[in-house]
Amino acid sequence: MNSSTYKKLVAKQFAQNFQSAIEIVELPIPEPVPSEIIIRNKFAGVNAGFDTLICRGDVSYINLTPPFDLGVEAVGEVIAVGDRVKDFQVGDAVVTIARGGGYREYQAINADLAFKVREATPEILTLIPTGISALVALEQVGEMKSQEVVLVTAAAGGTGHIAVQLAKLAGNHVIGICGSDVKGQLLRELGCDRIINYRTEDLNQILKQEYPNGVNLVFDCVGRQIFDICVDNLAVRGRLVVVGFISEYANNVDLVTQPRIYQKLFWKAASVRGFLMPLYKEHMAEARDRLLNLFYSDKLKVAVDPTKFNGVESIPAAVEHLLNGRNCGKVVVRF
Ligand SMILES: NC(=O)c1ccc[n+]([C@@H]2O[C@H](COP(=O)([O-])OP(=O)(O)OC[C@H]3O[C@@H](n4cnc5c(N)ncnc54)[C@H](OP(=O)(O)O)[C@@H]3O)[C@@H](O)[C@H]2O)c1
Repeated sequence: MNSSTYKKLVAKQFAQNFQSAIEIVELPIPEPVPSEIIIRNKFAGVNAGFDTLICRGDVSYINLTPPFDLGVEAVGEVIAVGDRVKDFQVGDAVVTIARGGGYREYQAINADLAFKVREATPEILTLIPTGISALVALEQVGEMKSQEVVLVTAAAGGTGHIAVQLAKLAGNHVIGICGSDVKGQLLRELGCDRIINYRTEDLNQILKQEYPNGVNLVFDCVGRQIFDICVDNLAVRGRLVVVGFISEYANNVDLVTQPRIYQKLFWKAASVRGFLMPLYKEHMAEARDRLLNLFYSDKLKVAVDPTKFNGVESIPAAVEHLLNGRNCGKVVVRF
């Protein structure tokens, strides 16, 4: 690559898996139009579930035809400013959330869509937009209260580890579900009241024995059997928020034959509620500011997965790493 060009990742075709859909493209670094800034991305957040689904053409609210750019959130440094841009200067650290703006070394973006931060560090990506999703899902969809039992699945993941802490900060008893002892250690440090490693312990049995009145609020990222067990263990008036179902993203949809779900919900006045961040946009700015305040005042810890991924070439491996459940904290790629 010469110094006037940059690399980005595009989906060149729809495919069942991410790796078969993508290619790296090299282009000249753009000049800003008057309303734009040019950002040198330093870190991008990896959303392997979304990446896989979008490359398969399975994100129902997005209608794209390949080729299209990949990646969403990035944090970086402003390197050029359009003539009409007043609020940014060269050298500013900024974070962006834009479809196609993440998996690339440079991006041109309308200045209104960038947000200034103190430093362009990977920790910012645990909050924006990942932590925002956790906060909005818990509060707006889950109607989180205090002194309730809150259960978080994939609790040591990017989204989950923020959800755990927000539920604790609200004054709840928090159960964190995870798949390894290393992840359990992180959850201990974050203040989880009960940590369950579903690979070595019987989740259903523990919930039945230790929480006979059920779980009031479930934040589920995983789906499949974990979802089923969580539905079965909801408390009276319990709420289960479907944040995602990552256990199905790499596979075909699991077909199940069983009584309709109202048979389980009705008798407890319980509910299962879907959450999709793009449908709750109006809450994003307030959530972002609150999370940054919590982080800067040391009330919120953030975990970036320690595995290093460097460069656009490393993105498929980062996606694979997350989809194999090997991460602890938010997965990021460094450029
Ligand atoms: N609805 C929205 O708007 C929205 C926004 C952001 C994220 N999400 C969703 O939130 C969830 C978490 O996303 P994330 O990016 O923060 O990922 P992540 O939680 O950092 O990583 C995924 C984790 O899921 C767990 N997992 C359990 N079963 C799995 C399986 N069969 N395959 C792969 N992973 C499995 C693994 O942890 P354990 O080993 O501990 O099980 C893994 O580390 C995803 O479902 C994602 O789609 C939704």
